[in-house]
Amino acid sequence: VKIRVRQARKDDKDDVMSFVSKTWGGSDYIPKVWDKWIKDRNGRIHVIELEGKIVGMNRISFLPDGYCWLQGARIHPEYRGKGLATILGLYVIKWAEGLGFKKFRLSCSVRNYPAIAQVSKMGFKEMKRISVYSFKGRPGSRCVELKKEINVKELIPRIERSREFKLSGGVFWCDYVAVSINRDTVEDFIREGKALSYGSALCLLKDSTEEFENTVQVCFITGEDEDLEHLCDNVLSMNEENKIFYVPRGSRVISTLKKKGLTREGCFILFER
Ligand SMILES: CC(C)(COP(=O)(O)OP(=O)(O)OC[C@H]1O[C@@H](n2cnc3c(N)ncnc32)[C@H](O)[C@@H]1OP(=O)(O)O)[C@@H](O)C(=O)NCCC(=O)NCCS
Repeated sequence: VKIRVRQARKDDKDDVMSFVSKTWGGSDYIPKVWDKWIKDRNGRIHVIELEGKIVGMNRISFLPDGYCWLQGARIHPEYRGKGLATILGLYVIKWAEGLGFKKFRLSCSVRNYPAIAQVSKMGFKEMKRISVYSFKGRPGSRCVELKKEINVKELIPRIERSREFKLSGGVFWCDYVAVSINRDTVEDFIREGKALSYGSALCLLKDSTEEFENTVQVCFITGEDEDLEHLCDNVLSMNEENKIFYVPRGSRVISTLKKKGLTREGCFILFER
């Protein structure tokens, strides 16, 4: 059989959608992001063809922290278990290594056993686990004002000393992508006025994105008891309809979120190679 991996073109969309529409009972997010991904010069979609027919895809992007992020691996349901995701994944990693990239990350749900087995086969190792909590209830009232952090030199050490920094492996999460916490990436939050604190508590926020409309994402959060509660109350009172919080496994922030009525959407593994 003739197997070929190549970069995707705009007009591959229909062929890819024909099988992607079958993943997760049609709730796959790929249709939502295809157009954005195909245009994005910070990433590439690759497809794998079998006898000229597209039977799989994945996406690699180049993050501001120097890591490559792999996501959107999809193999046509009738062609799974034949090693195709592995051929495609290893091809793309090799291609990126040829461009000088050395470190790769990806994430998948703790319940996605085929994916966990498949990425392990490509040499990825589990680093950390992260839970996603969401709030859809009625927003409470805002009782405290948060401070907008403006000094990256003061903020970085505060973040680095936190339990959540260690528990997360030194990353924040946005759109289900993990990005290393460093001067450059934290400065982006400061520039947008989205590094907020209240006493010992602080968080990094992201406004609605294409993937998450009408949603505030709490990309990183840490802090002590009462301060943390006030910070959470303030975030929950924001106008956006949905709020999602990324919290690493073992974090005490989780008990505060539960107390505020948030529910767990899922748990994800951060893999690295
Ligand atoms: C996950 C997915 C991409 C894997 O694609 P695939 O082409 O079937 O994977 P491969 O054939 O390359 O698998 C390689 C290894 O992974 C493991 N594996 C793959 N599917 C598995 C399954 N259903 N159960 C257990 N192990 C599995 C096997 O160990 C396999 O090695 P082996 O064949 O030597 O035993 C595919 O199942 C898929 O499209 N799933 C739906 C979308 C999805 O979950 N994507 C990943 C999101 S993070």
